[in-house]
Amino acid sequence: MSDIIDEVISSFKVSNIFINRDYLMPDYIPEELPHREDQIRKIAGILAPLYRGERPNNIFIYGLTGTGKTAVSKFVLSNLYKKFPNKFKYVYVNTRQTDTPYRVLADLLEALGVKVPFTGLSIAELYRRLVKAIKEYSLQVVIVLDEIDAFVKKYNDDILYRLSRINSEISKGKVSFIGITNDVKFVDSLDPRVKSSLSEEEIVFPPYNAEELEDILRKRAQMALKPGVLSDSVIRLCAALAAREHGDARRALDLLRVSAEIAERLRDSTVKEEYVYMAKDEIERDRVRDIILTLPFHSKLVLAAIVAKLLEEKNAVLTTGNVYEAYLSISKKLGIEAITQRRVSDILNELDMVGLLTARVVNRGRYGKTKEISLAVDKNIIIKTLTESDNRFADLWG
Ligand SMILES: Nc1ncnc2c1ncn2[C@@H]1O[C@H](COP(=O)(O)OP(=O)(O)OP(=O)(O)O)[C@@H](O)[C@H]1O
Ligand SMILES: [Mg+2]
Repeated sequence: MSDIIDEVISSFKVSNIFINRDYLMPDYIPEELPHREDQIRKIAGILAPLYRGERPNNIFIYGLTGTGKTAVSKFVLSNLYKKFPNKFKYVYVNTRQTDTPYRVLADLLEALGVKVPFTGLSIAELYRRLVKAIKEYSLQVVIVLDEIDAFVKKYNDDILYRLSRINSEISKGKVSFIGITNDVKFVDSLDPRVKSSLSEEEIVFPPYNAEELEDILRKRAQMALKPGVLSDSVIRLCAALAAREHGDARRALDLLRVSAEIAERLRDSTVKEEYVYMAKDEIERDRVRDIILTLPFHSKLVLAAIVAKLLEEKNAVLTTGNVYEAYLSISKKLGIEAITQRRVSDILNELDMVGLLTARVVNRGRYGKTKEISLAVDKNIIIKTLTESDNRFADLWG
């Protein structure tokens, strides 16, 4: 039997496909970032005063997801730092991951060499220590706050307001901020004082078009995949599929990586176009699964109600009214206290926003307006994921 294990391991050890899969992973920062020369030049130009020990302007970076904001910012800072390490210090914080004001301030402090306890201090105290640390620090400090929209939505812009005032609390400007977001509307929702302070310079990252995505994929594939594994038509297909929504390089790279993984799994020596379509389904399935698993319970119930209704009657026209009836019926079945139709209607909008369904307002003459609802994803994925997340759902589809 151990020969089976040997076989599995040996096929794992030598890959037909990959030189190094890491080069296709989303967090790898490549040495070359095609089609971002303008943004690299602009950011480097704004940060150049660091070389003379002067404070650069704050920068606000925005653009849709997967347009290279994080990669470019890290690339510019790490390269500047390599060139003159004694001139400044930079700290990168992803505020979606480091997602409490306490942790953000503690991380900033630690980067400046000030240890703080894991909990227990007040935010005001942390902030006071940060101002002191920056004041005493001998070099300019650049602080990158990535994905700040998520953070501000969860808390508020208080921390941004405080941070943006640091320079006015110390006699000489010492700290610059780079704020990054993929939510363009977010910028307008900020307190005007925070906004004007943080966006001394604004840089927009436009989506990539299909040809640009092809160049990006080609460069990454050269490093990650063995020669001859990939045809140009596969690259073009990945790029075209990713460009269809908006030019999202992360999506393009995911498609390529998962296609290559499928080839490897099937012990093929080349990546075929059909694997790209398989990869697309696989990625979509994972995405839908992740969204469903993190939904609040009543949102899951609403989703279950829609599926139950469709199982009962394949071409049912779904409206807020009959979805609510179906929801009441399954709540009763599961012995759960129901929420109001108004709340269910809100949930339907939320499910629309995360892309699980589409709700369209239709005017039904004297019956007034109603919403017509249809699923935007495969109902079998919903059934499988709901059952997995909570086995009470299993009883609903028998
Ligand atoms: N010009 C490029 N060349 C090579 N790889 C790129 C380029 N632009 C983006 N990428 C890669 O695409 C992926 C997504 O890029 P990045 O994480 O920088 O996007 P983002 O704009 O920060 O997106 P989000 O708003 O979702 O955080 C990363 O793996 C990154 O390395
Ligand atoms: Mg990013």
